[in-house]
Amino acid sequence: MAKDSEPFSEKLRVPEALTFDDVLLRPKESAIEPDEADTSTRVSKNVRLNIPVLSAAMDTVTESELAIEIARHGGLGVLHRNMDLDAMVEEIEQVKQADELIIREVITAEPGQTIREVDRMMNEAGVSGAPVIDDDDEVLGIISGTDIRPYLEVGESDEVREAMTDEVITAGEDVTPREALELMYEHKIERVPIVDDQNRLTGLMTMAGILQRREYDNAVRDESGHLRVGAAVGPFETDRAQAADEAGADILFIDCAHAHNSNVVESAREIKDQTSADVVVGNIGTREAARDVADFADGVKVGIGPGSICTTRVVTGAGMPQITAIAQVADVASKHDIPVIADGGIRYSGDAIKAIAAGADAVMMGSYFAGTDEAPGRVITMNGKKYKQYRGMGSVGAMQSGGGDRYLKDDDEEEFVPEGVEAATPYKGTLESELRQLVGGMQSGMGYVGAESIPVFKERAEFVRVSSAGQQESHPHDVVITDEAPNYSPDGS
Ligand code: XMP
Repeated sequence: MAKDSEPFSEKLRVPEALTFDDVLLRPKESAIEPDEADTSTRVSKNVRLNIPVLSAAMDTVTESELAIEIARHGGLGVLHRNMDLDAMVEEIEQVKQADELIIREVITAEPGQTIREVDRMMNEAGVSGAPVIDDDDEVLGIISGTDIRPYLEVGESDEVREAMTDEVITAGEDVTPREALELMYEHKIERVPIVDDQNRLTGLMTMAGILQRREYDNAVRDESGHLRVGAAVGPFETDRAQAADEAGADILFIDCAHAHNSNVVESAREIKDQTSADVVVGNIGTREAARDVADFADGVKVGIGPGSICTTRVVTGAGMPQITAIAQVADVASKHDIPVIADGGIRYSGDAIKAIAAGADAVMMGSYFAGTDEAPGRVITMNGKKYKQYRGMGSVGAMQSGGGDRYLKDDDEEEFVPEGVEAATPYKGTLESELRQLVGGMQSGMGYVGAESIPVFKERAEFVRVSSAGQQESHPHDVVITDEAPNYSPDGS
């Protein structure tokens, strides 16, 4: 030891760091009914959500199917990056095209086609009608299932022009959904071709599309009305960042297990310079890390080793208990008006709302959603119970499919040093019902603290410290549980 350096034993004067089970929200006087609590929040500088929930960028959690569903219900899906660029672009497009009011890739018919051909074409495409257009895309008519039913005595080899309705109702690009619906009701039709000023087809509005969109009144959409979506990009993947940005991703998530690394910070800054989407930097877990990205990040993501499938803390000896990590990062981020996302370790709705109380604006979850219908993968049965696969992105299997650079390792290493495990999680049914339990529980937490909105809750919430006896008291005890509560299991699965 050098003569003047601090004694090693000084290192043992360690600060305390807390996580979810160490704390509870202190109940406060309240005039808030939980159902009325407003859960809208900001997840990055330019993106707001209606519920403070994101799905993890993991290959057993978020692909377009789950991303579409979570955005329809007010949250945000973050697409994983264990896929090549083309596949990711396609996934982003899938989300952006879902619930589109004006369908752009319209199935069309030509006047000279036979009824048989058009019938087959519509069946294959799963549509029940098609605009009939000429070589210049001009709309000549519309043909639907009713036009070609046998009782109208149209032969299978007759031409479309003989069976189509040629007095076709069209609308311009500026038609509103309400106007389009009125047209459909008035003329007893189910679809309206959208045309330019020369009567050329540019799209199609359907009654089913408009009504479906009305169902999702809590959806989060961009300025053009498309569902919002996030995309994970590796810390040095500038090409993926550009491709995802061009494809319309609303937020790029720098996907790194330890973003407080000078090369990662530098690269993230470059990605921010080269793209127009918001850039969320993560993961970090300290004040110092937040300070080092505060000049360019549109959001920060917190979590060093809290995840259910993570082995980072045991493999590397490094990590930061999540409640303390969130609070430390939020201390700095709030001064720079940068939203904070708490990522990992959330088992219950109570954990999620504690994360917000500690300073997060939203939470990201993997295991909570991996067992839903919308997550990738099949349902498997083990010992009579249903499960879905869930694996860490730092597990051997996931790293073999790419993404080892999340752990700042080469993808082509012969022997990985994994920081995650492959697992199974109980099958849970629809994402919608999981979200209802999650957000309902969070709203009840807001009710106990007397806060009508997320910003008010963040200000008003206080913690009390829980002993291990207190923690035992918090869970069902001295009973045998006989029902399957939709929002509780003893191990949080
Ligand atoms: P939960 O607890 O919601 O955590 O299942 C999801 C988050 O865990 C992170 N993650 C990992 N962390 N090794 C890690 O140390 C891994 O293999 C791994 N895979 C995912 C990630 O931040 C995710 O959102």
